[in-house]
Amino acid sequence: MKHVLSSDQYTKESLEEVFKLAEKIRTNPKEYAHKLDDKIIAIMFYEPSTRTRLSFETAALKLGAKIITTENAGEFSSAAKGETIQDTVQVIAGYADALVIRHKSDTSAIDAASVEKIPVINAGAGKGEHPTQALLDLYTIERKKGKIDGVKVAILGDLLYGRTIHSLIKLLSLYDNIEIYGLSKEAFALPQEYIDMLKERRIEYKKCTSFDELPKDIDIIYHTRIQAERFEGDFGKEEFIINKEVLDTFSDHTILMHPLPRVIEISTDVDDDPRACYFEQAHNGLYVRMALLLQVLDKA
Ligand code: CP
Repeated sequence: MKHVLSSDQYTKESLEEVFKLAEKIRTNPKEYAHKLDDKIIAIMFYEPSTRTRLSFETAALKLGAKIITTENAGEFSSAAKGETIQDTVQVIAGYADALVIRHKSDTSAIDAASVEKIPVINAGAGKGEHPTQALLDLYTIERKKGKIDGVKVAILGDLLYGRTIHSLIKLLSLYDNIEIYGLSKEAFALPQEYIDMLKERRIEYKKCTSFDELPKDIDIIYHTRIQAERFEGDFGKEEFIINKEVLDTFSDHTILMHPLPRVIEISTDVDDDPRACYFEQAHNGLYVRMALLLQVLDKA
C-alpha cells in the first residue's frame, strides 16, 4: 500500500516523478479532471489549517473525487470520546479510499498507516514532519531556480518545533553540494538529531546568530513562525524579522519562502518584492497534492 508518511521515503528519482506529474497536471488539467471520479477521500484534521486542508480538498475535487471531511476532528470526531487513531482508520477505510490526516502526535500518520487498509497521507504530524509541505517547497525551489543541486538555503525561525523545516532538510539532503544555514534563537535551534543526519549525508550545516552571517548571495531564505502552540510560556521578541531593508541586503536572486501562516517574521512590505514567493509556494501545493493523491491511488 502506498502512503506519504515522511520525507525519509523519497529519493531524488521519486521526487522528480512527483514534480513531473505536478507539472503535467498544471499544464493539462483537463486530462486529470476525471481520474478519481469513483474515489472518496477522507480528510481528518485534528489541528487548525488553511492551506493544507483546503488545497487537499481542492486537489481531490479537481481530480473528480468526492470528499468527507472533519476540520476539527479533535472535538467533532469520536477522538473526543477516546477513540484511537487506529480504530478511527479501520472505520474510515469502510467509507473512503484514502485518508489525509493532520494531528498533534508526531507518530499519528504512522499509527494511521499501520492499519494498512487505505493509503494515508501525512498532512502534518506534531513537531515531527510535514512531508507534503516539503515536497511543494522543493517543487517551488526547482521551478524558481531551475535546479536543486548546489543551492544554498537559510532556514530561519522555529527550527526546533517546525515540522516543515524537518521534512525540508531531509529532502534537501538528497541533493549534491547543498549548504544549509540555520538562523534562530538558541531556544529554537535545530535539534542535534537533524544536525547529525546532515553531517552523515555530508551536507554542510552552519549555525548562525545574525543576518550578517548569511551569505549575501544565498539562493533561498526559508522563514517559519514560532510554533507557539507546541510549548507553554512566552518566547519573547521575534529577533529575525525580514522587512524590505533586511531583504535588500541580499542578492536580487535570493528568493524568500515561508510555508505560511506567517505572524510577524516577514513584514508585509516585502510582499510585492519579486523575490517573495510564499503565496506562489502555497499555490504550487495544489498541483503537488493532486500528484500525491494520484500516486497513492495508483492513478498516476
Ligand atoms: N503550511 C501549512 O501547513 O499551512 P496550514 O497550517 O494553513 O495548513
